[in-house]
This record gives sequence, structure tokens and C-alpha cells, in this order.
Amino acid sequence: MSSKKEILEWYVTVGVTETIGEHPLNRLNMPEEKVLLKKVLTEPPVLPKPEPVVPDNLLEGAIELAKCAQTLDELRQAVMDFNGCALKKTAKNTVFGEGPQDAPVMFVGEAPGADEDRLGRPFVGVSGQLLDKIMASVGLDRQKNAYISNIIPWRPPGNRNPSSSEISLCMPFIERHIELLRPKILIMIGGVSMSSLLGQPSGIMKMRGNWTTYQTAGMDSPIPAMAILHTAFLLRNSIQKRLAWKDILAIRQKMDELGID
Ligand code: URA
Repeated sequence: MSSKKEILEWYVTVGVTETIGEHPLNRLNMPEEKVLLKKVLTEPPVLPKPEPVVPDNLLEGAIELAKCAQTLDELRQAVMDFNGCALKKTAKNTVFGEGPQDAPVMFVGEAPGADEDRLGRPFVGVSGQLLDKIMASVGLDRQKNAYISNIIPWRPPGNRNPSSSEISLCMPFIERHIELLRPKILIMIGGVSMSSLLGQPSGIMKMRGNWTTYQTAGMDSPIPAMAILHTAFLLRNSIQKRLAWKDILAIRQKMDELGID
């Protein structure tokens, strides 16, 4: 027979160092615990809701409309005519893009926010104002030499992240947008833009600042492309502005190499 002292020492050795109640409880015998246990053992696990699959006819419609556009104005009209994406129903405006049609540098963000939706222009809210300042620091200006658009032309309600089916439906339009604008440099703003355009889910923190290339089937040669941190993220994480500064200097250097003013 073990003494009480030996039992206590054994408890301490196995890590039982807290006393919770005066009396032992057999939790497997308690009615509400039994119900819970039965539920866990008998009910099928709740799996995450699968993403709705984009119906082929909607996606084909988007591809066809985008392909037929031969100019940016035609593409703008095609996007406005497309009713296959439910986001259009809740948005106030279609936010197509802004900047000179011969801009050598194109920036692509994620989706419009409330200010963009209200005004029908990309990056005009606080994160847009920061983007303007970052661009200006290396001589880029949406009135002069920079063009700005988004993966999604309609604001997701409540600024939620766009779903993968919404992204798939809008991809033909932004791909054609890049083909028609044919910038010399493509900048992807944030992880959603980067993973949608490059088709890879790698993290933005790892990918940002690295030059890669972007090419669609309709382009005869690839464009130098870089992902940068989203300005909305920079507003919440000021410390990361040093990375944004590094990246914008790399963009300036590439502009110089390509003879862009
Ligand atoms: N964030 C984006 O990604 N795009 C905008 O147009 C505005 C905010």
C-alpha cells in the first residue's frame, strides 16, 4: 500500500500539480457530457462549406466577352455588360481602371472598397491615397504614367475577401485588360492580386519584392512583374512600410533599366 505522501509525489511527477475540486468527478457519467460525447461520436463532422463551382456557361460568357474586346473602351463596355458575377448586383458602380492607356506601369489591386464603389474609381480611399504617395516617390502618377485596376471590378459586400469563384469569373477581364494595355511593368498589389495573376498560392511576405514575369496566351512576350504589399495592410502595419520602400525603389530601378521616365 502506498502512503498518501507517495501518492502525492507520484501526482507531482506526472504533472498533476493543481487541485480543481474537493471531490473526484467521473465526467463520462455526467448526463450533459454523455450527450456531448454521443454527439461527437455519432454525428458526422461539420466540414467547411465547399466553394461554389462557377458554372461553365458563366465562365465561357466572361471569356468570350473579354476576348472580343479589341480596345480598352470595348473591354470597359464588356465588363459593364457582364451580369454573371453576383457582386455586380450589390455594387453601386463598376470600377474598371484609371490612367493613361499608354501607361508603362500597371498596378493591379484586389477589389474596390466603399470609396471606390461610391466614386467608380480604383484606389481613391485612404489606401489609395497611400498608393498615390508611394507611386509619387518614384515619379509615378495615375494622370501621367501609371495605370491602376483591380482583379475584381465590383466591391464585395462589407469589403469581405472575394471568393475563389468570384475571382475565376473576373479573371478573363483583368487578363484581357493587361493584354490590351500591354504595360512594360506589372505590379500586383497584395496577396490576392498576386495569387490570382500568377496562379500560385505562395505567401505575399515571401514573394513581395521579387521580380517574376507575367504572360497570357494572347501576349507574345512576358512582362516583368512584381508583387508588393497591399497599402491597406501597410496602413495597419506601419513597420512594414520599410519593405514597401525597398520594393518601390526596385521598381524605380527597373523603370530606369527599361528607359521609362
Ligand atoms: N483596395 C483595392 O485592392 N483596390 C481598390 O481599388 C481599393 C482598395
